[in-house]
Amino acid sequence: MNTTAPVLRHSHKALQVALLSLAAALAWFVVPRLHYLADYSAVSYSAYFWPRRLGLLVHLCGGLVAVACGLVQIWLGLTHRVGRLHRSLGKAYAAGVLIASVGGLYLALTIPAHVAYAAGLVMLNAAWIVTTGMALYAIRLRRIEQHRDWMLRAYTVTFAFVTFRLVGSWLRAWIAVPEDPIADDVDTLMAWACWAVPLLATETGIQLRAMRRTRRDPR
Ligand code: HEM
Repeated sequence: MNTTAPVLRHSHKALQVALLSLAAALAWFVVPRLHYLADYSAVSYSAYFWPRRLGLLVHLCGGLVAVACGLVQIWLGLTHRVGRLHRSLGKAYAAGVLIASVGGLYLALTIPAHVAYAAGLVMLNAAWIVTTGMALYAIRLRRIEQHRDWMLRAYTVTFAFVTFRLVGSWLRAWIAVPEDPIADDVDTLMAWACWAVPLLATETGIQLRAMRRTRRDPR
């Protein structure tokens, strides 16, 4: 009897639910920020971002390409659809990360004062470049397993800014912190937690999967 097909169908369902949840969170983040693209004015950008508008525009455009292509890539990669579309979207994803991280680094380095907040975002940028770079290097060496694992880490980091805003807004409903026009304590906490905590969870999943595989297939 072939038991593989129902197992695969079951894991595809779980993957679909996970990716649809990510898509919903992404829409929650992106839709209220489309005014940055639709309305290029000081009012739209606010006094905080207007002097750094070019950096934000570059960052946002690259970030949108990376986060959208990455979502499709995770689906294609984990369902073994790794043909021409996967390769083209992979190039677009890498270009998006490169462009957005240049803008992201500029934005992080020009945050006035708030060193702990800015440092969290600089390190997020570093994690973005390192994880994406490792995923690309692995595929250049044809290390498929490592490429998949590094892409899961990279997309966890790509999604971190959405996680930042989503979890930050939940936390504010529970924790009262002193107001700050640039970054309050919740922002500072989230600048580090938005990538460190999800990366820990992703890493645990990757390592558990590897351990289970070695137990089934001891060499
Ligand atoms: C994962 C790596 C990322 C890093 C390191 C990063 C870094 C930053 C930094 C430093 C700022 C300025 C914060 C401030 O001045 O207070 C910023 C703002 C912003 N970023 Fe990113 N970002 C990342 C991912 C993304 C992605 C993938 C998107 C798009 C989907 C995005 C969209 C935005 C937007 C719209 C803002 C303006 C602030 C807001 O409306 O929330 N970022 N980002």
